[in-house]
Amino acid sequence: MTHDEILSWLRQTDPARLARLWREADAVRQEHVGGDVHLRGLIEFSNRCVRLCGYCGLRAANTKVERYRMSADEIMQCARLAVRLGYGTVVLQSGEDPGVTRDWMAELVRRIKGETPLAVTLSLGERDEADLAAWRAAGADRYLLRFETSNRALYDRIHPPRDGQTSDRLTLLGVLRRLGYEVGSGVMIGIPGQSYDDLARDIELFAALDLDMIGVGPYLAHPDTPLADPRDMPLLLPDDEQVPASEEMTYKVIALARLACPRANIPATTALATLNGTDGRELGLERGANVIMPNVTPPQYRVHYEIYPNKACLAETAETCGRCVAARIEAIGRAVGVGPGPSPNYLKDSR
Ligand code: 5AD
Ligand code: FES
Repeated sequence: MTHDEILSWLRQTDPARLARLWREADAVRQEHVGGDVHLRGLIEFSNRCVRLCGYCGLRAANTKVERYRMSADEIMQCARLAVRLGYGTVVLQSGEDPGVTRDWMAELVRRIKGETPLAVTLSLGERDEADLAAWRAAGADRYLLRFETSNRALYDRIHPPRDGQTSDRLTLLGVLRRLGYEVGSGVMIGIPGQSYDDLARDIELFAALDLDMIGVGPYLAHPDTPLADPRDMPLLLPDDEQVPASEEMTYKVIALARLACPRANIPATTALATLNGTDGRELGLERGANVIMPNVTPPQYRVHYEIYPNKACLAETAETCGRCVAARIEAIGRAVGVGPGPSPNYLKDSR
């Protein structure tokens, strides 16, 4: 796909033509990753964060958040629950939390890999190469780090670096690849200041990075963040250039990501389910996605992991979400994947 083709799909409003995009993405998904929907048990194990992302409710300056970090034993219990619920992978996600030390995390990964058959995906933000290497050596299989937007000026505006450092997620994605991780990234859709041109470039960058996993979801304003306040948004664009943070735009990006990266694993995300709790995930799965990440975080912690407001499944338990997700997958005639379900893109060359 050329830049202009991607752009014209992103601007397409004709339902009949869009139906063609959905069909194509669904066919490419079936051909390259099959009909199975892989489940990843998401453990949001720490909401502590030292960063000041302009969009995220967990930013360090948000004093309204009650902070927690689960113990290694609590996390092991979640991992065992994920096994019982039939999931082949756990995703360990946290804010950028220096209390999550290299050694503590490495030991935890070793325990999960030693005591369960699970694949382990880490989503811990921007960490030193030595940390990433130690966790890989401990057995971690995959790492998720969204680049959020390919527009550098917009990225800098919404994602201030730590003191005296630069934030270069693209370089880190290269480091992860070199360390042998299965590599995932992605963007938010409809960030204030994000143009159609930016979003088209994001999709081109998915392909250029040869991503194994691609997570995308709508930007959802959190009232206790700077980005929610229009006075703090100097990158305001004219209406016909600003990407809407809409459900339909999310499906377009899922479908185009599938066409750009046929063998990637692509989730129907919680942010999408937050926009449309009725059948958002199902429509995502029918328009290019092949993964769902049901939450296995204990309810008493999950309510405090408020990246954005009204997150789907906030009041649910791991068991409820497990049953719900399986029923939704079967209702659209697909099967729940068995085993760790790596991306065929990763398997294609033994990196
Ligand atoms: N709306 C939507 N997605 C968000 N994320 C963070 N804050 C928000 C928000 N307000 C996404 C980012 C991050 C991922 C873990 O959650 O893309 O990488
Ligand atoms: Fe959590 Fe449906 S996935 S209730």
